[in-house]
Amino acid sequence: MLKTILTFILFAFTTQSFASSFIQLEDQLRRQFNTSVFWLGKNVIRDDVNPGAIIAAPSVANPNYYYHWVRDAALTFETLLDLNVARLANLSYKKNINAFFLDHIYFNHTIQRASFRFGGLGEPKFNVDGSSYTEPWGRPQNDGPALRASSLIKLYYLIQRENWPNKQILLKRLYEPKLPTTSIIKLDLEFVAHHWREPNFDLWEEVFGSHFYTLMSQRKAMLDGAKLAELVGDPGAAQFYAKQFEQMSMELERFWDPKRGFIVSTMLLPGHGHYKSHLDVSIILAVLHSGIVNSNFSFTDPRVLASFDKLNTVFKEIYSVNKTGPGVAIGRYPEDRYDGYRTDSYGNPWVLATAGFAEFLYQTAFEIMAKPNFRITMQNKFFFEKFFKNKLPSKAELAKKLISQGDQYLQRVLRHANPDGSLSEQINRNSGFMQGAPNLTWSHASFIDAFMARQKVISLIVR
Ligand code: NOJ
Ligand code: NOJ
Repeated sequence: MLKTILTFILFAFTTQSFASSFIQLEDQLRRQFNTSVFWLGKNVIRDDVNPGAIIAAPSVANPNYYYHWVRDAALTFETLLDLNVARLANLSYKKNINAFFLDHIYFNHTIQRASFRFGGLGEPKFNVDGSSYTEPWGRPQNDGPALRASSLIKLYYLIQRENWPNKQILLKRLYEPKLPTTSIIKLDLEFVAHHWREPNFDLWEEVFGSHFYTLMSQRKAMLDGAKLAELVGDPGAAQFYAKQFEQMSMELERFWDPKRGFIVSTMLLPGHGHYKSHLDVSIILAVLHSGIVNSNFSFTDPRVLASFDKLNTVFKEIYSVNKTGPGVAIGRYPEDRYDGYRTDSYGNPWVLATAGFAEFLYQTAFEIMAKPNFRITMQNKFFFEKFFKNKLPSKAELAKKLISQGDQYLQRVLRHANPDGSLSEQINRNSGFMQGAPNLTWSHASFIDAFMARQKVISLIVR
């Protein structure tokens, strides 16, 4: 890895000072990465919860995030799987991690059963003992089962490749090619396949309608599900999921608003509020979490790039911490009123949104490098021309520009992180101090994801 990085520096930069500041940044990013891996481990492997549960944050009051949120958990679980495979980190809890993966399977089985007694599979959050959370809440949130299906399908392949004890029993617990079923992935896939047209609450748990983020996650689940079903000899299901995939892909097209020049986050239902511009960072997160290469709405889709630019501009203007660089601290959506404690206040930049912007640019660079037929065209020129004044860049040159642009967003996160590297949910829009739920699991996961994406594209460039 060190060799890769050194080659990259030589390849990328000529002036000495540039190279040394690059090494310095690399160092700082790696330190935060290791710190985030540490905090993530603390939130994930703990003895005050039912084993396999993933708390959203350790805080039990103001705000109380001491619950297992299906969305946060699925995203975090996928980060853990990627970390495990990438072998980038010194996982001090490594010996416990396979045991944790197992526990996570059984915990999901428990909460699925609980949700049949209360609320259904769209239930967004559970108590850490695996029982249902029965207070009023924005429910259902149908991105949860979709994200969980995709993350557990990844685990399915891992178990299949490796030599796990009780392998066949585990795989059956995850996916059994029959109906009715009690296997976790199959239950989620059936739920997604049959309910995706139903309105539900968005990932921010506030708006009832039909959402780009949710539909993107559902489409990805159908694709992953169709492949798995095919593999395990469930051809009828494979066909059915593939058909839903096609229909969802078409439905997604409706979210592009050519007049406003961005992808809108939600199609509202009559009587369900109009307080949002529907310019929302969830578009970028949707592409990050559920984008599909060579499909509509992948990283280099000009409509996605246009939405990225619009979001960047609006957040740069509204948060006073953004008066100076590096990069821009990014929030959820401009009209946000949730300050991390109460909902009648002012919204702030979020760590996971800012790190998400970094990851987006790394992944875009990766897609450009990986796609043999990528070209700068009339449609995408508006996005790329800011990196180059007159001459047409090579793919590698363009990728390097995108990486350094991405780095600015991670430097943003570093600037606002607590001195010990702990990360809350939000960054105060005026003072820049951390705010809201401390050590939010998802904040750390998003930094780790961004760092891993950065390593991945750098090694592709130097190869
Ligand atoms: C209101 C926030 O806006 C929403 O995103 C959050 O999930 C809930 N409060 C619970 O903290
Ligand atoms: C509030 C966020 O809006 C939501 O997306 C998240 O699931 C919860 N907090 C828990 O982190």
